[in-house]
Amino acid sequence: MTVNTTHGTHHESATTQINGSARYIDDLPEIQGTLHAAPILSPVAHGQVLRLNTEQALTSVGVHAIISSADIVGDTKFASFSHDEYIFADTQVNHVGHVMGLVIADRHKHARMAASLVQPSIQSFAAVLDVRQAYAQQHWVLPPVHVQRGNADQAIATATHVLQGSLDVGGQEHFYLEGQIAYAIPQDDGQWLIHSSTQHPGEVQHWVAHALGVPLHAVRVVCRRMGGGFGGKETQAGHLAVWAAIAAHKLKRPVKMRLDRDDDFMITGKRHPFSYDYTVGFDDTGRILGLHVVQLADCGHSADLSGPVADRAVFHTDNAYFLEHIRIDSYRCKTHKQSHTAFRGFGGPQGMIVTEVLLGDIARHLRLDPLAVRERNFYGTTERNTTHYGTTITDNIVHALVKQLANDCSYSQRRSEIATWNQAQTTLKRGIALTPVKFGISFTATQFNQAGALVHVYTDGSVLVNHGGTEMGQGLHTKVARIVAHTLGINTDRILVGASDTEKIPNASATAASSGTDLNGRAAEFAARQVRDNLAQFVAQLDACQPNEVRFDNGHIHTPSQVHSFEKIVSQAYSQRVQLWSDGFYRTPKIHYDKTTLSGTPFYYFAYGAACTEVAIDTLTGEHKVLRVDILHDVGNSIHPSIDIGQIEGGFIQGMGWLTTEELVWDKQGVLRTHAPSTYKIPTVGDIPAHFSVQLWHEANREDNVMGSKAVGEPPFMLALSVFEALRDAVAHARNEQQTTVQLNAPATPERVLQAIHT
Ligand code: MTE
Ligand code: HPA
Ligand code: MOS
Repeated sequence: MTVNTTHGTHHESATTQINGSARYIDDLPEIQGTLHAAPILSPVAHGQVLRLNTEQALTSVGVHAIISSADIVGDTKFASFSHDEYIFADTQVNHVGHVMGLVIADRHKHARMAASLVQPSIQSFAAVLDVRQAYAQQHWVLPPVHVQRGNADQAIATATHVLQGSLDVGGQEHFYLEGQIAYAIPQDDGQWLIHSSTQHPGEVQHWVAHALGVPLHAVRVVCRRMGGGFGGKETQAGHLAVWAAIAAHKLKRPVKMRLDRDDDFMITGKRHPFSYDYTVGFDDTGRILGLHVVQLADCGHSADLSGPVADRAVFHTDNAYFLEHIRIDSYRCKTHKQSHTAFRGFGGPQGMIVTEVLLGDIARHLRLDPLAVRERNFYGTTERNTTHYGTTITDNIVHALVKQLANDCSYSQRRSEIATWNQAQTTLKRGIALTPVKFGISFTATQFNQAGALVHVYTDGSVLVNHGGTEMGQGLHTKVARIVAHTLGINTDRILVGASDTEKIPNASATAASSGTDLNGRAAEFAARQVRDNLAQFVAQLDACQPNEVRFDNGHIHTPSQVHSFEKIVSQAYSQRVQLWSDGFYRTPKIHYDKTTLSGTPFYYFAYGAACTEVAIDTLTGEHKVLRVDILHDVGNSIHPSIDIGQIEGGFIQGMGWLTTEELVWDKQGVLRTHAPSTYKIPTVGDIPAHFSVQLWHEANREDNVMGSKAVGEPPFMLALSVFEALRDAVAHARNEQQTTVQLNAPATPERVLQAIHT
């Protein structure tokens, strides 16, 4: 056996992922008799299904069956929160790519071949494909929400300056490297084992049980790891699991369903595209006096998570700014597209972008430095520190953090150098922007803020940890292992974190809202503390001291008189019948708010950060390059600095892709034309800026959170707003001096940049 020297410093799967032995669901050995499912996709955006016409598909090679609504024994709708989506769209279709049924065959390829032979007869209806059209027709998936504080209309009417504008911001495909997949395996006596690439095994269990008409305890869902989720597997992994389970139930065989990449694009929802209209009133210094924002969320055809996503956009419209008089009208528009879903930031990016854009324009309008205008609008620390939803912010560090970053990256000096450089250039223009992030940590669905864990210490001193979270590459298992190791005073190489399994931890929340470590890490810490307390009690008796005099450190247990090895004490304690395993449970304290008015304290604390980005644009082609990025980000006390820095880098680059190259194009028939890597461009290694510096803020979380840390998964995504603002700065430099505001929609493709320069 070789010694694994990477343990403790690297991601728990680093070695197996690099040598190719880390298992994903499609790598599991297939059980004999396994069949494969392929989806039958709607070719039209909206219509009534007259006939599926499956004759040809049924005689195709290897085909066993076609599965439709008639094969569902339980409810024909998914058990989603809004309960508004049919499992198979074999009566009415609501988007191109809507799954009408399944072809089941002996092989994946045969299933796909046969699915392409189904030629349904569908009577087409008019489709709503544009969010502004949906708004005009009051075509909602959920009712509108209005939030206001003060009197925005009056503050705007009496302000010295007023700007009005509109903004359209595109969606984003998750592009997880491992596509959606589920494997449903019938067990004894009507029980089920489901392998699902899901961020939420408990929800998959619930959906499958509901569709099969069995109690939750008859369905076990397991996920060892995902090849990325990014929010795309928070609910929508459930669809595949339900489809595979229905087929497996009907055919009494194991069924695996793995989506081809193009099908994954056509079927699954994306980040919500948003459109905005805003009016802002401000004074001569750029301080915002009144703001009215209309937010149109393009939700696609069903509610899915659109309610909480649009709510989070409302909650984050302030970003780090005190907006005394504000009105937000949030519309959850229904369009005949894929059902848009969670995506890193969960509406936060869509809430913040409009405010960052209008702040940039206010600065240009007044010919002030955009950073000075931003700082002038920051929340105060003792006054002007209440959000528009009524939370008093007690952990504001944005002033000091932004100041430190601006100093470290020579913001002011570079800003004037760039202005001088731009004057001498005709074709290329540079831009710079420094933008902050303040992101609320907790699920806005308050009941999700709970978690459980199990810590088992075996008689050899090795430790197995199970918790309700899932591993999607973000390093949750590695961090939880560190927390348990720290609590027991042992090395992480003694700790194994098991697969997520509904038989181990019941009723677990989604691993989402960046709170995986906060919730599961704390639950595991509590479980480990219980075991440690049991051992301390035992050792105190042995050495005739008090339990609180026992220390656990570096694989040893210290008392005032002795030093013992951890495993020796464990084995002795076992023989004296001491319990060596425990559960742990954690619920986030202090959070409560009114869901109808969106007022109260939805978040336990805020994570902060700031980024300064410099770009260059080519005014002849509209192309750009991100030249330099400096980030200062707040993770509290870092549980694992290299994982945290990886999350910050990855989040930033993913945000940059959203705002620059990743464009979703639906044609007039509602067909998503950018449904493969050939036409949908995520950032590549060549897009990473030559200078890319990430520093961590030095302070612990001021709230009592696991090991003093802060959540890191999503907040850095929004640091990429600095890329968009830097591009708008460069565009302003390229335009006529008299035109101050910049009309640029996202993503800032070369075409849009050119348009912004020339109109
Ligand atoms: N990092 C990787 N490598 N892969 C992912 O899928 N998902 C992000 C973020 N970082 C993701 C990721 C999202 S959307 C969330 S909510 C968090 O990780 C979830 O994990 P955490 O709560 O453990 O941070
Ligand atoms: N973030 C992610 N997922 C969620 C949330 C949230 O705030 N609320 C409900 N599901
Ligand atoms: Mo993340 S969007 O909360 O899965």
